[in-house]
Amino acid sequence: MFDYFPVSADEFDGPVLVTGAGGCIGSWTLALLERAGVTVHAFDLQIDQRRPSLLMNESALKRVTWHAGDIADTKAVKDVVAKTGARAIIHLAALQVPFCRADPVAGALVNVVGTVNVFEAAKASKVERITYASSVAAYGALDNGGAMSTLYGAYKYCNEQTAKVYSEEDGIHSVGIRPGVVYGVARDQGMTSKTTVAILAAAAGQAYTIPFSGDVSWLFAGEVASAFIRSVAKLRTGAPVFDLNGKLASVEEGMKMLKALAPEANISISGKPLAFPMGHSDEPLKAYIGDYGQIPLQAGIQSTFESFSQLLKDKRIDPKQIQ
Ligand SMILES: NC(=O)c1ccc[n+]([C@@H]2O[C@H](COP(=O)([O-])OP(=O)(O)OC[C@H]3O[C@@H](n4cnc5c(N)ncnc54)[C@H](O)[C@@H]3O)[C@@H](O)[C@H]2O)c1
Repeated sequence: MFDYFPVSADEFDGPVLVTGAGGCIGSWTLALLERAGVTVHAFDLQIDQRRPSLLMNESALKRVTWHAGDIADTKAVKDVVAKTGARAIIHLAALQVPFCRADPVAGALVNVVGTVNVFEAAKASKVERITYASSVAAYGALDNGGAMSTLYGAYKYCNEQTAKVYSEEDGIHSVGIRPGVVYGVARDQGMTSKTTVAILAAAAGQAYTIPFSGDVSWLFAGEVASAFIRSVAKLRTGAPVFDLNGKLASVEEGMKMLKALAPEANISISGKPLAFPMGHSDEPLKAYIGDYGQIPLQAGIQSTFESFSQLLKDKRIDPKQIQ
C-alpha cells in the first residue's frame, strides 16, 4: 500500500527530522521517507521501534537514526536539530485527548511548549521547512467551530497561532495540518483509534464494540504521513493551516466493508457520533502541496485487515492489546 503515496528523494536537500516518530503517523512517515531513500532522523521520548517495525523490516529500520529526548526540553530539541543537520522537520510529537485530560500540565508542556521548542530550534539552526500536526480538535477552540472543546484542541489551536507569529516575526514558515480520524496499522491509542481497533479485533476473531457511531473521517495513516512529507518537499512561506479528512463515511459503512472481508467478524457500534467536524474538504491542502496520494476506503480497510491478519499470524501484535 506504500505505492499509493508518492515520495521523491530529489525534493529534499538534506536530512528530515521526524518528532513523535515512534507513534502511528510517525511510523508511516519514517517508512515512506526511508523507502524513497531520504535520510531520516527519528526523535521520540524513548527509542521504541514497536510501531515502526510493523511497517519496516530490520534493514530499513537500521537506516533510520534514532534520538531519544523530550520535546518539552528546549536544549534537547535544539541539540538534535543542530546535530542531525536537519533541513526539514515533521513535528508530530504530542499527547492525545485522554492524556491531556488526565494530565493538563504534561499536555501543555508536550503539545504547546514542545511546538515552541521546534520553532526555536528551527530558528537557531536555520531550518526552513517545517510542518506540524494540528488536529480537527482545534475547531473546539473556535467560537462556533462545531466541535467539542478539549484541552488537546486548545493546545493545538495555540500551536497554529504560534506558527503564525513565527512566520510573521521571524520568517520561520510552516504548514499546519488538521487531521481527522486516522486509521491503519500502528494506530493503537487515542480516543478515535477505535475504528482501527475494530479491524484488528476482526482479524483476531474477537468481539469488539466501537464506542461511537455515525460519520467519521476515514483518513489512512499512510495518506496523512504522505501529506506531511509533501508539505516539506519544497520551501513554502506563511503559516497556512489545512484540514485533512480522507473519506467521510459512517462507522456503520466502514464496518459493512469489514464484514464483507471477514463475514464472521463480531463488531458492534454504540454511542453517539464524535463531536468533531470531519466533513471539511481536503481540496485546499491538495491544491497547496500537490498530489500526496489517496487510497479508496475499501482498499484501505482491506489492506489494514490483511496486514493485521499477517502480523497476528507472525505473533508481532499481541491480541491482548485489543480494548
Ligand atoms: N491519530 C489521529 O487520528 C490524529 C488526528 C489529529 C491529529 N493527530 C496528531 O498527529 C500527531 C501524531 O499522531 P499519532 O496518531 O501518531 O500519535 P501517537 O500517540 O501514536 O504518537 C505520538 C508520539 O509522540 C511521542 N511523544 C509523546 N510525548 C513526547 C515527548 N515529551 N517528547 C517526545 N516525544 C513524545 C509519543 O511517544 C508517540 O510516539 C500528533 O501530534 C497528534 O496530536 C493525530
